[in-house]
Amino acid sequence: MSRNPKLDQQAREILQRNDRGGYTVPTHGLYPFQWNWDSAFVALGFAAFDRDRAWQEIETLVSAQWDDGMIPHIVFHQNDDGYFPGPGVWGTGKTPPTSGITQPPVLATIVRALWEQEGAVAANPRMRALYAACLRSHRWFHSYRDPLGNGLVMVTHNWETGRDNSSEWDDALARVDTSGVGTYQRRDTGHVDAAMRPKQSEYDRYVAILQFGKNCGWDHREIADHGPFRMVDVGMSMELLRANRDLLVLAEAIGDAEGAAEIRDWIALSEAGIDWLWNEEAGAFCSRDATMLESSGLVTNASFLAFYAGVGSDTQRARLLEALDRLTTNAEYLLPSLEAGSREYDHRRYWRGPIWLVVNYMAAQGLAEQGHADWAERIRADSARLIEKSGFFESFSPETGEGSGGDDFSWTAAMWLVWCGK
Ligand code: GLC
Repeated sequence: MSRNPKLDQQAREILQRNDRGGYTVPTHGLYPFQWNWDSAFVALGFAAFDRDRAWQEIETLVSAQWDDGMIPHIVFHQNDDGYFPGPGVWGTGKTPPTSGITQPPVLATIVRALWEQEGAVAANPRMRALYAACLRSHRWFHSYRDPLGNGLVMVTHNWETGRDNSSEWDDALARVDTSGVGTYQRRDTGHVDAAMRPKQSEYDRYVAILQFGKNCGWDHREIADHGPFRMVDVGMSMELLRANRDLLVLAEAIGDAEGAAEIRDWIALSEAGIDWLWNEEAGAFCSRDATMLESSGLVTNASFLAFYAGVGSDTQRARLLEALDRLTTNAEYLLPSLEAGSREYDHRRYWRGPIWLVVNYMAAQGLAEQGHADWAERIRADSARLIEKSGFFESFSPETGEGSGGDDFSWTAAMWLVWCGK
């Protein structure tokens, strides 16, 4: 039973309006192309009313997979001058044009969900094709993005994490040399209030990292070994571990014994390695620099994905729940993307405070699975209240519930349809 048929209708209309024929833009104006993890969540949203379109969203994304296995973070299906950095700036030389970096590996989890919704038939050809694509993508992560050999995910650009300007990246970004960046015209601040977007000094660093990749011809080995930004991201480490568990279910259903063995090894590696991210003082899993080895020590919404990944000792989980409890003292709504009081916390600025419903969804799913239904329900109810109060924004203030960033956002609409509006 839906809680609010009018909002259901609006959510469906947002997805339909943002549909560009086979793929969906995150929102009109600000993000005019196909984004990797947005499309994964959007597919779930479509599945609520158009199953064929749901599969197609992911198939279109995967059609841009690189030969080395990487699924790019943006696919530029058509030109649009309203976005920087566009295909020419990335210069990857791919057809269709894409960026040169990836985004959180949530696809396998979503493919499993779509497949199960249709009765988990092992012969399902769409699932089988996407299984193969996800396996190649996970192989890419484990061979190019695990420099420490502990099954955790290193990112070479902060945009890969999907949590673009989180304070977790500040120290590493501060070491990036921006002297060769040159001039460029940002487009994001022409679409939304600059107070809600990353600052100019930060943007210069994002562009400098991009240029390193372009200058070495997007050689992913070179970028991983010598790039200017090398962070082990707690979010992607948890997401990949979870995605491997889901991929394993698909491998077993298909009867791919070799693939299944490979995936089991990855899971064991990550389970044994995850403690490397634990920060005893913060009482949470935190992102950590792969070069300097420093922990960010920051509690973010991604820290709570430990439940979703099914990791953490009893003591660690108890401390995470304490942190969750602590968040409620400053936040009217859960989950802020950064704990209030942390440096650079700002309830309106993107990933330095605002709530993002896709992270809420994953965190709540994990909490429910691990026996914390009360917390899961609290996060779901807060998420629903945000949409009821403010509409389908990109993100929301944890203090006032006001929407920030772009409006009519595809993945926010999807989260209403599949989760918080139900
Ligand atoms: C921003 C977000 C990222 C998202 C993209 C498109 O860059 O930080 O997570 O994928 O917008 O919505």
